[in-house]
Amino acid sequence: MKNVKVVLGVFYGDEGKGKIIDYLSKDADYAVRFSGGNNAGHTIKVNDEKFAFHLLPSGILNENINAVLGNGVVIDPKVLTGEINELKNHGLKVNNLYISDKAHVIFPYHIVMDGILEENRGSNKIGTTKRGIGPAYCDKYERTGIRMGDFISDNFDELLKRNLDNKNKIIEAYGYDPLNYDEIIEEYKVYADALRSYVCDTISMMHEAIKNDKNIICEGAQATLLDIDYGSYPFVTSSNPTIGGVSTGAGIGSRYISDVYGVTKAYSSRVGEGPFVTEETGKVGDMIRDLGHEYGTTTGRPRRCGWLDLVSLNYAVMLNGLTALAVNHLDTVGKMDKIKLCTAYKYKGMIVDNFSSNLEFLKNCEPVYEEFEGNFGDISNCQSFGELPLSAQKYINRIEEITNTPVKFIGTGAGRENIIVRDDKTLRLVK
Ligand code: GDP
Ligand code: IMO
Ligand code: MG
Repeated sequence: MKNVKVVLGVFYGDEGKGKIIDYLSKDADYAVRFSGGNNAGHTIKVNDEKFAFHLLPSGILNENINAVLGNGVVIDPKVLTGEINELKNHGLKVNNLYISDKAHVIFPYHIVMDGILEENRGSNKIGTTKRGIGPAYCDKYERTGIRMGDFISDNFDELLKRNLDNKNKIIEAYGYDPLNYDEIIEEYKVYADALRSYVCDTISMMHEAIKNDKNIICEGAQATLLDIDYGSYPFVTSSNPTIGGVSTGAGIGSRYISDVYGVTKAYSSRVGEGPFVTEETGKVGDMIRDLGHEYGTTTGRPRRCGWLDLVSLNYAVMLNGLTALAVNHLDTVGKMDKIKLCTAYKYKGMIVDNFSSNLEFLKNCEPVYEEFEGNFGDISNCQSFGELPLSAQKYINRIEEITNTPVKFIGTGAGRENIIVRDDKTLRLVK
C-alpha cells in the first residue's frame, strides 16, 4: 500500500510545482496540501487561461479529485473563500474539498503583525509575502492559535476576543491603531459559514483512502531552502516544506510514500531576501527574468534570477530522499546562447561540493560553473527525450549524472501540454 506521491520544491520556490501536480493529478484520487498557506502561488496554464492557486491544491483542476487542506496548512479564510468562488465562477465544482479541523486560521492581526515585524527588522528584513504566515505559525506553537474546528464552532467569538485583546496590546505598543473586534467578527462569521461544510477530520479520511488503495498526491508549497530548519535561516518561511512536513502536516507516515519528486527550474530564482550563490545581478539575470517571465505569482515582485545550482540541488536530494526530478523551463534556458551549470562552490580558495545553509558560508561562496551550448530552438512540442536537440539532452544528462537522480519530467513551456514524461525513469540511478 504505497500509493502516495510527493511533489516538493527544491530551491527557493516557484519551480513550477503546480504544473507537475496538475500532470500527476490526472491519475490521482486525492491532492493534498500539507504546509504553508497563501504565501504560495502555483500557476497552471490551460490553453490561454492562467490559474493561480494560493491555498487550494492545484490538483483541484481535475474534476474527479478530492482536494485536501491538511492540518499543517495555515488558512486565510478570506483568501480561501475567494478562491472557491473563483473556481465556481469558472464553472468548476468545488464540493470535493476537505479542510482539516486542525489547520490554523490566519486573521487580520496576523497580517498586521507580519507587516510590523518586517518594518522593525529594517535592513535585516526577510522580504516575507506579508500574508500573516509567520505570526499564524507563531500562535500555533505558542498554543493560542484558532483552528478551523474552533473557527466554525460556537466558541469562536470568545476565542477571537481573547486573542484580539492580546494582539491589540502589541499592535498599540508598536504605535499602530488597534483592530476592531466587531468588524472582524462580522466579516469572519460569513467566511466560517461558507467554509463549515468542508471542515472534517482529514487524517482518518487520508488513512481510509490509503487502505482503499487510492492514489494520493501531496503538493508541496515553498521549497527546501525556505524550510524553517534546513533553509537559509532566518531568510526562510515558518514551516517545513520538506519531506517531514508530509507526516506532520497531513498525517501520512513515510511507509505509504512511493515517490518523492523534486521540482527545479533549469535555472534558479528567489523572491525576498537571503543568500543566492548563483544569482546573476546584471544583464544575464535580467535576461533570464524576461525570458522566464519571473514575477511573483503571489506578490508580483520581480524574482532574483541566476543559474541552476547543483550543490544545493544535491542537498535537497539528500534531505528529502528524492526519487526523481522535474526540470521545468528547459525552453527558457534554451533561448540563451550559453548556459551555465553550477557543479561546486569555491569557499575561501577551496572547492567544495557540500551545501551548508550557514549564512557566513553561503555569503563567501562563489559558484564553479560548467558551460553548455544553448539555442535549442523551439522545443515546446517535443514529446520525448529523444526529440530534444542533443545540446538539451547533454544538459539534462549532466544534471542526472551529478545529482545521481533521474530526471523524470521536463518542462518545455508554460502550457499544460508542454511536458516530457519519461516513464523509464522511475528508479533512482545507482552509482
Ligand atoms: P510553483 O510555485 O512552484 O507552482 O511555481 P509558479 O507557478 O510560482 O512559477 C512557475 C512559473 O513558470 C509559472 O508562471 C508557470 O506557468 C511557468 N512554468 C512552469 N513550467 C514551465 C516550463 O517548463 N516552461 C515555461 N516557459 N514556463 C513554465
Ligand atoms: P511557492 O509555493 C517563493 C518566501 C518569501 C520570503 C520568505 C518568507 O509559490 O513556491 P513568508 O511570507 O512565507 O513568511 O515569507 O519565503 N516565500 C516564497 N518564495 N515561492 C513561494 O511559494 C514562497 N513562499 C514564501 O518571498 O522570502
Ligand atoms: Mg509560486
